[in-house]
Amino acid sequence: MKSSAIAHSNIALIKYWGRSRDHDSNLNIPSNDSVSMTKLGLSDDIHLQTRTTIDFSDIYEKDTAILEGEVLTGRMMERILRVVNPLRKIVNIDYKFKMISKNDFPTQAGLASSASGFAALAIAAVDALGIDFSKEEISTIARLGSGSAARSIHGGFVYWYKGNSHETSFARQICGLDEFDMSAVIAIIHEGKKDVTSDVGHESAYTSPFDRVRISKSQEQAKDIEKAILDGDFSEVGKISEENSKYMHAVMMTSNPPLFYWHPSTLKLIKSIQKIRESLECYFTVDAGPNVHCLCRHENTYELQKMLEEMEYVDKTIIVRPADDSHVTKEHLF
Ligand code: PMV
Repeated sequence: MKSSAIAHSNIALIKYWGRSRDHDSNLNIPSNDSVSMTKLGLSDDIHLQTRTTIDFSDIYEKDTAILEGEVLTGRMMERILRVVNPLRKIVNIDYKFKMISKNDFPTQAGLASSASGFAALAIAAVDALGIDFSKEEISTIARLGSGSAARSIHGGFVYWYKGNSHETSFARQICGLDEFDMSAVIAIIHEGKKDVTSDVGHESAYTSPFDRVRISKSQEQAKDIEKAILDGDFSEVGKISEENSKYMHAVMMTSNPPLFYWHPSTLKLIKSIQKIRESLECYFTVDAGPNVHCLCRHENTYELQKMLEEMEYVDKTIIVRPADDSHVTKEHLF
């Protein structure tokens, strides 16, 4: 019972930050709807994807999960079991599993490795166990590992309904990869691991006095951005994304304890993007890390990349296009 999957990461245009306090926090049911673009990295060695193989068999004496050659324990293993256990229960087997997973980009650097990681795990585990699930159902399972993974099941532009139960908190596609003209250039400032993972950060969002405002604004912005995507209105999508990213960082910075994901260069870059915008239309969005995603139209990506690469504090850049759906592959890792 072996299967492998390839899943892409995604960049949130409307952010998920904070879990609903009305539900068990292990369910990762968010406080607000969110919207993202699933990403395909265009550089030779970085496609921003995770490949995962999982095998269930009676030959294994215990569950083992290996990421980048490291055997996972503690919180990470707990999150993997939250995805796999409900599936084992559905098919009523108690076989142990072996899982190997590889990212083609730095883990935990704010490039959404948990999104592609848990999406790949959910797709591979559902396939290995022969469960007949729709993409929306697979998205609920991926969500149990990492909220944003719910969105990475689909390609193109994706809407995640916060819902009010495990079954109703799922993502669906707004439109496919060719149906809206947007790309991004990621400006990498720092590739190291961040001090506080988003998994931990979600728990303190509610302590910010601005949390309630962000939630209600995000709810409106999610609907507005969906409409703008369907209308093909890049300017509107860019403006809303930028606003929403600032709201999230305002909440992070004013939580208790406060979370400062930005580095000094993040702010420098944001100011440069505002300047670049006078001649080339682009917008910024920043996830839980210091690196900046600069959103632009397809035709402007290489020119924008050149401008960003000239900045002394930018280590490197990655061009990203919308990706296709995450999927099963026959190429196993073991
Ligand atoms: O899925 P998590 O727990 O890694 O949270 C993702 C949080 C952000 O990347 C900051 C925002 C988002 O919606 O992806």
